Amino acid sequence: MDVIQHVRDMQRWSEDRRRGGQTVAFVPTMGFLHEGHLSLVREAKARGDVVVVSIFVNPMQFNQSSDFDTYPRDAARDERLLRDLVGVDVLFMPPPAEVYPDGYQTAVEVEEVTKPLCGAFRPGHFRGVATVVAKLFNMVKPHCALFGEKDFQQCVVIKRMVRDLNFDIDIVTMPTVREADGLAMSSRNARLSAAERTASLRIFRALEAARACVADGRTDANAVLRTVHAVLDGDGRGAAHGTPDADIAVRAEYVCLCDPETLEEVRRVSAPTLLAIAAWVGDVRLIDNCVLG
Ligand code: PAF
Repeated sequence: MDVIQHVRDMQRWSEDRRRGGQTVAFVPTMGFLHEGHLSLVREAKARGDVVVVSIFVNPMQFNQSSDFDTYPRDAARDERLLRDLVGVDVLFMPPPAEVYPDGYQTAVEVEEVTKPLCGAFRPGHFRGVATVVAKLFNMVKPHCALFGEKDFQQCVVIKRMVRDLNFDIDIVTMPTVREADGLAMSSRNARLSAAERTASLRIFRALEAARACVADGRTDANAVLRTVHAVLDGDGRGAAHGTPDADIAVRAEYVCLCDPETLEEVRRVSAPTLLAIAAWVGDVRLIDNCVLG
């Protein structure tokens, strides 16, 4: 596995592979890799002749500098994990000054699908994501790029951008990878205390409860949302049972039922419907989702 830092070197490497008739599969990440990322890399190996993984913690997509500062990082461990996987051809780690040089002033704005859900609470986040992904596409020049569905809205935004800006790149999305107990894998999980981690499981249980609600024929959005909030609030669990997470609140930032393509809110689960949750556990913000119906 080569480690490439400079943008020009990355572009030349990909141009050479493309000229040789090879397909380039790309997994963009912000590092602190977990099984979710590795599942994307394995799929990339199945889809491309060569695989590039990037690690770049993108300052433009953090709306709070404290979140950027505390984002977990461990480049040496990430590099080891990728080497052990075998079959990753390039780890691309561009320095911030090459991605956003002095005088940088261009951004990619996807208008509508960035407004609800995370977009409503993290101003500028998707502008940062779309901009850096467009830039990474121009640096890595892939034939296909892979993203995890835990960041469902991000997948929708990137697919929209690729269509709107005519990038000749296949966007492949892969199911959320979960811990054995259901917690969605996320680099942010590393910041949870043991009790917070236990409390975080309420998010997965809330998704399961929503599924059961719809399976029972209760498809009205209010019924589903009430069920989800009750589980997040710990009704029937937690304090009453004296479990370790009893005192830990899971504070919903949003719980939404929406169309999985347009992300417009729906009032009834009468077709495949995205249930998306963002919640704070301590000072860690977690997101998760599932498609109902
Ligand atoms: O999902 C992520 O890790 C990031 O948002 C991405 C796509 C690498 C852009 O910085």
